[in-house]
Amino acid sequence: MSDQVTLTRDGEIAVVTVENPPVNALGAAVRQGLYKAMEEIDADDAIKAAIIIGSGRTFPAGADIREFGQPPQPPGLSEVCTRIEDATKPVVAAIHGTALGGGLEISLGCHYRIADPKGRVGLPEVLIGVLPGAGGTIRLPRVAGIAAALDIMISGRQVGAKEALSLGILDRLADGDLLDSAKSYARELVAEGAGPRKTSERSEGLGTDAENAAALEAARNGIVKKAKGLYAPARMVDSMEYSLTHSLQDASNYERDCFMECLKTPQQKGLVHAFFAERASAKVPENGRADPRPLSKIGVIGGGTMGAGITVAALNAGLEVTMVERDKGSIDRGRNNVEKVYARDVEKGRKTEEQKAAIMARYTPSTSYDDLGDADLIIEAVFENMDVKKEVFAILDKVAKPGAVLASNTSYLNIDEIASATSRPEDVIGLHFFSPANIMRLLEIVIPSNATDDAIATGFDLAKKMKKVPVRAGLCDGFIGNRILGKYATAAAYMVEDGASPYAVDEALVNFGYPMGIHAMGDLAGLDIGWSNRKNKAATRSNDARYNGTIADRLCENGWFGQKTGKGWYVYKEGDRRGTPNPDAEKIIDEARRDLGIAPREFTEDEIIRRYLAAMINEGAKVLEEGIALKPSDIDVTFLFGYGFPRYRGGPMKYADMYGLENVLNDLREFEKEDPKFWKPAQLIIDMVEKGESFDDLNKRAAS
Ligand code: 3HC
Ligand code: NAI
Repeated sequence: MSDQVTLTRDGEIAVVTVENPPVNALGAAVRQGLYKAMEEIDADDAIKAAIIIGSGRTFPAGADIREFGQPPQPPGLSEVCTRIEDATKPVVAAIHGTALGGGLEISLGCHYRIADPKGRVGLPEVLIGVLPGAGGTIRLPRVAGIAAALDIMISGRQVGAKEALSLGILDRLADGDLLDSAKSYARELVAEGAGPRKTSERSEGLGTDAENAAALEAARNGIVKKAKGLYAPARMVDSMEYSLTHSLQDASNYERDCFMECLKTPQQKGLVHAFFAERASAKVPENGRADPRPLSKIGVIGGGTMGAGITVAALNAGLEVTMVERDKGSIDRGRNNVEKVYARDVEKGRKTEEQKAAIMARYTPSTSYDDLGDADLIIEAVFENMDVKKEVFAILDKVAKPGAVLASNTSYLNIDEIASATSRPEDVIGLHFFSPANIMRLLEIVIPSNATDDAIATGFDLAKKMKKVPVRAGLCDGFIGNRILGKYATAAAYMVEDGASPYAVDEALVNFGYPMGIHAMGDLAGLDIGWSNRKNKAATRSNDARYNGTIADRLCENGWFGQKTGKGWYVYKEGDRRGTPNPDAEKIIDEARRDLGIAPREFTEDEIIRRYLAAMINEGAKVLEEGIALKPSDIDVTFLFGYGFPRYRGGPMKYADMYGLENVLNDLREFEKEDPKFWKPAQLIIDMVEKGESFDDLNKRAAS
């Protein structure tokens, strides 16, 4: 067949095994192997039925995404699916692991499907900016119905085997060993004389013409809400609709055309970049050099917003957690903060009381640091104050067992200085979680000067256990995320002072793809955080830099901290999380402009985005230059998972590549004329433009 597809025989049953680790992606060699296997099976009279199965951990999990955009190599996946469907003997797909995308399409090309009860199926193409391109839009609705098929495709969700069985996608679940069950099934089919059953010719999933039309229309209307800004979902509906009235050949050609159109979009490039960037972020030198230390018991200091969220994340990862607070009242609040997360889960039917009790049994609240003696890793999440943190670390130094990793969740403070309060700075790292810590997937792993490789590897192991996306960050004010945020937030503040309405800035950002604008976000997080940060830094602020807090300070001086006070940039009605523009804020803005002697000017949406992104990309380049981030894709991952950057744009550095680095530099040069200090282009950008390089080139270099 090919190195990646083997054909063996067990009596009259042929077993075709795909072996292309790790996920049996359907690259050219696999496609050729499957095609040839079908030819051989058809030509061999001794074979009465065939099984297609994946070796290792999964049935094929999809097309090989790395081949996208490369010259196509025959046979195409669609051709392979149809070749399987055209086989003259019954072909059974035996599914375990994840039959996704092209994998599910291969199984729909088969005539019968059996799965391991833990198996999952899905068409996640939407997550990488395309539609199923090998018959998925044609065959899935024929067994599962239009509404279910579109739901699966537009959401990209993975469907468990039991649900897939009830939807008609699977014919049966395996009882015991999958291959044995599949062989029994195939033998039954032979004994019954059940021949090939082409999915493309079935129709039991479909409704009447009117019902089908209504389901298509409902999906079209729902896309605006469910798949905001994405191009592929509408093409899925088009392709499915087309397939209802055309031959398999024509429908396949139409689906292929839609697929090729999607491949040309920047969205597809952004989403594929995001897919690989997410997987590349855990590949750091320290992980290659050292094994993580054992990790089962965690200590958390502080039960406030972050301490409680981190505790829930750790409990959900199956770890034991001891939380330490200052006094009885504080630990009661801490425990309550944890408990209410699970109480809500029970209320929403996501967990039973028993499950909640089993989780809470792994949680120990305490007011004594002595209870941390057996913790493998301790995460400090107390007030953002250097003296308090140093005091805590001095105590941890005394109580923690040798080899325990000591971590700080500080947002900005110098972790080298925190580590200096201990006698073991080699065990100290930064673990910067994002709020709410049990939900947000980003975890910045901050590397202070003395941390050892195995302490750092333990941080990455924790991220894996918690299913977080880790990003390695060097030490500086704000690390990767908050440091860059500081720059583009300043660019936004300047625009508002200079004449842009904060609501226009937010609208531009939402149109760009953000879930909310920066001012709405500030209201949500609390404007007092930035205010206190500005006050803390007032003494060390350089005199020649333009101040960025005039307007925000005045809002805070009025006691308007955003949602929690009902007023900020926006006003919020009781219980309402969506605000309307605050007329008093608009008055403050006018006054501030007058006091600063600024004659307000117009900003187009285009200029707002150019300034916002130029500030972000420029600081990103400086973060790279200084080695704070190891590669551009780590910055992308930080903003995708921690700051709401639209995934389909790939992240700020990928966006820079697609917008053109030369255009970024031109924008910076233009803005530099008005404020040379703030807009000074990063030397890295200047050098890259000169050499004609892209951030993707740097990513490739980092991977090699
Ligand atoms: N193509 C190429 N490489 C792939 C791949 C794919 N479809 N799917 C996974 N990989 C690679 C990953 O990049 C990773 O590589 P690395 O080890 O070098 O970093 C490796 O396989 C393992 O992947 P994960 O780390 O993600 O492993 P998990 O066990 O956590 O997850 C998975 C497994 C659920 C299969 C997950 O990898 C996944 O969701 N993959 C993508 C599935 C997908 O999108 N399929 C549709 C593809 S498009 C298609 O089929 C088009 C068709 O309609 C024509
Ligand atoms: P918080 O004020 O909600 O909680 C801090 C908790 O620490 C309080 O419950 C307090 O009682 C406790 N505490 C203070 N001193 C203590 C001590 N000596 N021993 C034990 N407990 C003590 O603060 P929050 O928001 O949880 O922040 C904690 C840390 O996390 C800060 O360093 C902050 O910068 C960082 N952080 C905060 C984020 C946020 O969005 N709130 C995001 C990421 C990091």
